[in-house]
Amino acid sequence: MIEAKSVSKFFPVVNDKGIAEGLTAVLNVSIRIPDGRIVSLLGPSGCGKSTFLEILAGLQAPTDGTIHIDGRLVLEPLPATRREQIAYRRRYRFISPLANGVFRDRPKHDIAMIFQDYAVFPWMTALQNVVFALNLRNAERRGAEKLKKRQVEEKALYYLQKTGIAASAHKYPSQLSGGMRQRLALARAISVEPKIILMDEPFAAVDALTREKLQDELLRLWEQTESGGIPITIIMVTHDVQEAVYLSDEVIVFSPSPGTIRNRIPVTVKRPRARTDAESLEIQDRILAMFQYDINQEADYSI
Ligand SMILES: Nc1ncnc2c1ncn2[C@@H]1O[C@H](COP(=O)(O)OP(=O)(O)O)[C@@H](O)[C@H]1O
Ligand SMILES: [Mg+2]
Repeated sequence: MIEAKSVSKFFPVVNDKGIAEGLTAVLNVSIRIPDGRIVSLLGPSGCGKSTFLEILAGLQAPTDGTIHIDGRLVLEPLPATRREQIAYRRRYRFISPLANGVFRDRPKHDIAMIFQDYAVFPWMTALQNVVFALNLRNAERRGAEKLKKRQVEEKALYYLQKTGIAASAHKYPSQLSGGMRQRLALARAISVEPKIILMDEPFAAVDALTREKLQDELLRLWEQTESGGIPITIIMVTHDVQEAVYLSDEVIVFSPSPGTIRNRIPVTVKRPRARTDAESLEIQDRILAMFQYDINQEADYSI
């Protein structure tokens, strides 16, 4: 269960007159996502989707509010007032405040993140990329749980097979197509068997046909992968309405300036779904009408 309570993020920025101004990237976002769901964060760019996702991942601290994953606090808000700052310094005297998550007993590999620009290491082959992720996880294991080198490689190959790129195991990312690189990122993410995968516009940079294939692949993996009997939770940022409706159990529509939740739309269409069945199309139209309304500030009844 992921629980975000009144999460806000302000960025201090300086305007062109040299005066400090604040930018509210995320304002008062509260959501509760039960295990095993696929949830999309949908909205035009600049509405705080990436910022919110990074806060969920613990890569950024919120300015306000809290995120709990399975009851554990992810990162606490950074101190704002002087008094808070003093208390905070006292508490985290020995390490950087940004690293305050270190103190928590949260298993680090509960969450895997996939970025839009295929964040795989270019100097490692596909196989080495996955082995690297597995080794990081392996280093935390103790005694008999620790995998042998051969087992790590077998496991890496197994996940490359699952994502359909085992034949390119010894190629470098630069030798792979965009779609294959994204498959590699996916293989690396699921290889550590996380409970949660966070994806930031994962398919935005590939062509439409490849994107549809990757979407289906993701659904197949989601249905297969069971960590403790429950499928993984996937939270995905996208600005593609069809993609959001096709994949998700729930679409959370964000609106910009300040970035906040505009609407939450449950998608109850049965799986396997068709991209263009009447029910999905109806939901897509409803979301598009909402965007239209935000742009025109009035309802467009032609839809
Ligand atoms: N580090 C930062 N400093 C200042 N402003 C930022 C920073 N990161 C993001 N922003 C601003 O916050 C807003 C939301 O950004 P982002 O979360 O990237 O939106 P999205 O992913 O929905 O496109 C944008 O207006 C962006 O310019
Ligand atoms: Mg973004």
